[in-house]
Amino acid sequence: MQRKKRTDTWMLLTENFNDQLYPMSDSNKSMTNKICVISGATSGIGKETAKALALKGAHVVVVGRNMKRCARTVKTIKKKTGNTNVDYLCADLSDLSQVRDLAKQLKQDYPRIDVLINNAGAFYDPRLETADGYEMTLALNYLSPFLLTTLLIDSLKASEQGRIVNVASSSHYVGKINFEDIQYTKNYHAIPVYAQSKLALVLFTKELAERLKDTKITVNTLCPGLVATNFRKNNGWLRFYVRKFVKKELTAVEGSQTMIYLATSPEVAGITGDYFEKEKQKKSSDLSYDKELAKKLWEVGEPMIKEFMTDS
Ligand SMILES: NC(=O)c1ccc[n+]([C@@H]2O[C@H](COP(=O)([O-])OP(=O)(O)OC[C@H]3O[C@@H](n4cnc5c(N)ncnc54)[C@H](OP(=O)(O)O)[C@@H]3O)[C@@H](O)[C@H]2O)c1
Repeated sequence: MQRKKRTDTWMLLTENFNDQLYPMSDSNKSMTNKICVISGATSGIGKETAKALALKGAHVVVVGRNMKRCARTVKTIKKKTGNTNVDYLCADLSDLSQVRDLAKQLKQDYPRIDVLINNAGAFYDPRLETADGYEMTLALNYLSPFLLTTLLIDSLKASEQGRIVNVASSSHYVGKINFEDIQYTKNYHAIPVYAQSKLALVLFTKELAERLKDTKITVNTLCPGLVATNFRKNNGWLRFYVRKFVKKELTAVEGSQTMIYLATSPEVAGITGDYFEKEKQKKSSDLSYDKELAKKLWEVGEPMIKEFMTDS
């Protein structure tokens, strides 16, 4: 307990120290007046993306589950970028009633949303269940972005060209949708469960793009690469294997580049329903192009979020 406290204090001290050493600048203010909401922005690639968007002049809304971490992140971003239009909202995104309340608050506070980045995600071993009784990986990595995006569609429609960016993973290539037991109540293994959740997010992206084809909203998905963040720190054995077999992990700044590209670049203004790696379109898994599978998954996912689609 004491040790954890010391680590937090140390992080705070080094962050402030680095702020003074490395003030940031970006002469490209292309995102001025754009409202960008990013989940999981208190750490890793989400935090770096939030920083980059603020540097480009955007009004950034950091979404995190821990108020102290949110406040600390906002303070750091403001200080590093000189942009004071950085706010935060707190929600545990694995809890769908909190996702609903978050959407309600966002609709109240902001006239429109120009960019929604569904970045929060995690890997769970052993199996956990959410407050709603759903398997945690599926809930956080798939049901939560499904619900948040659905609730914010009108806010995105109010933008000149709304963008949705879903952070998936190359693990989707080995993913399958286990319709017989989508919540893995039996034979739980963290890797196929994580891969399933990220394939579900890619399928959701493609199906949503189809459903939004008559609007100006685009929706794309990506893998950031293997990035040294808290993602593996929270899972000792995964970290051990990655360290053993992967020569070089990307830094969080490197890993955030494709997300920043999809959120900001004029090059992708007309591209929707695609998967990206290293700032380039890439063919996603064969299964992800199966339109019947995407529809079937939507029909399984929708009833799971339905009760949270209207105000309580
Ligand atoms: N790192 C990689 O190699 C890698 C590879 C492929 C895909 N990805 C994907 O990239 C995304 C970002 O991960 P990262 O590598 O930056 O990891 P990270 O450093 O662990 O960041 C994850 C972020 O999500 C937040 N989060 C986790 N559970 C949450 C919950 N229940 N409610 C609200 N927020 C929650 C975390 O909040 P706290 O700060 O409070 O923990 C943190 O801000 C994830 O979707 C991950 O699946 C990562």
